[in-house]
Amino acid sequence: MLPNALEKAVYGVYATTAVHLAAKHGVFGFLLDQGAPVPTGKIAVALELDEETLDRLLLVLASFGVIERNEHGAYQVPVELAPFLDPRSPRSVGGFLSHVMNSTLGRLPQLDGYLTAGKPSVDASLPAPFDVMYKTPKLTEEFVAAMWQLTYDVSRELVPMAGLAGVRHVLDVGGASGPFCVAALEATPGLSATVFELPEVGPYVADTVERYDLRGRLDFAAGDFHRDEFPPTECVAFGYILSGWTDEIGLELLRKAYRACADGGRVLVMDRLFDDDRGGPLPTAVMNLSMHVEAEGRHRTAAEFIGLLESAGFADCEVRRSTQDKHLVIGFKR
Ligand SMILES: C[S@@+](CC[C@H](N)C(=O)[O-])C[C@H]1O[C@@H](n2cnc3c(N)ncnc32)[C@H](O)[C@@H]1O
Repeated sequence: MLPNALEKAVYGVYATTAVHLAAKHGVFGFLLDQGAPVPTGKIAVALELDEETLDRLLLVLASFGVIERNEHGAYQVPVELAPFLDPRSPRSVGGFLSHVMNSTLGRLPQLDGYLTAGKPSVDASLPAPFDVMYKTPKLTEEFVAAMWQLTYDVSRELVPMAGLAGVRHVLDVGGASGPFCVAALEATPGLSATVFELPEVGPYVADTVERYDLRGRLDFAAGDFHRDEFPPTECVAFGYILSGWTDEIGLELLRKAYRACADGGRVLVMDRLFDDDRGGPLPTAVMNLSMHVEAEGRHRTAAEFIGLLESAGFADCEVRRSTQDKHLVIGFKR
């Protein structure tokens, strides 16, 4: 038998697959709707799934503690995991898992080549990250949905920390379908927002405008943040953007933000943070590895982010932490 830490590390790939498939086929939503433990056969019939395969997946999920199995072999979702497994919850992990399984997983073998030949030489023969992520409408939709799930709920914590009262306009650079903008607009009367994004994302922002009835308050600016200057604003937001790029490119983006900001304006960098000694937390360490294959960036400590903001000219920089994985580093144009 393996020691616990090694057991989780070795068998974790099976658990990830099981959680993804159970989420994809509606198992968690179904269990939550029943409100009482359900045997495998009943789940299989209701969801039209092969009972033997489902049985094996459910046993893995129960062994990892993702679902509970009672003495009659019936299953339920633990109360504390429901907000993350319920597909209707804003904190659901389903979209993120789809992205991991359908996109990131295929890129992880690149790490082997990175170890022996280095990232630049392996990447030279590969398409740019977002050419892969937006290769098909299905992948684009999945990525945008994953971003919504990662960002909307935590943004409701981050928006009050950003102190937007009195701010009239936010420019969300690489803002996906607008999860941060929606949270900001919902909480801040008088605010309007623009998502500055690749053209492929435009239809998803249009959909958000319709869904949240934000015509006149939320709009879309198609652009390439590597090539284009940013439109003028009072507040530039970067959510999970700087972690995708090197310090040099990150600094270039922050300098563009500084130029775009009105005097007295601010920049909001919202990202994962490494502990000061880079010893954790675990999700940041994992996503730091993921950024290596999915993009060209890395995760940073608070001090590293503040150093970048100050190099771009922002002052009075500070970190404001949420209770979740995404935190705010704020700086001002004085
Ligand atoms: C990791 S996602 C972050 C999405 C969102 N800001 C959030 O916090 O959830 C990175 C975003 O940057 C956008 N992006 C990538 N390259 C871009 C570019 N060159 N110009 C504009 N946007 C870009 C992608 O379309 C994607 O939505």
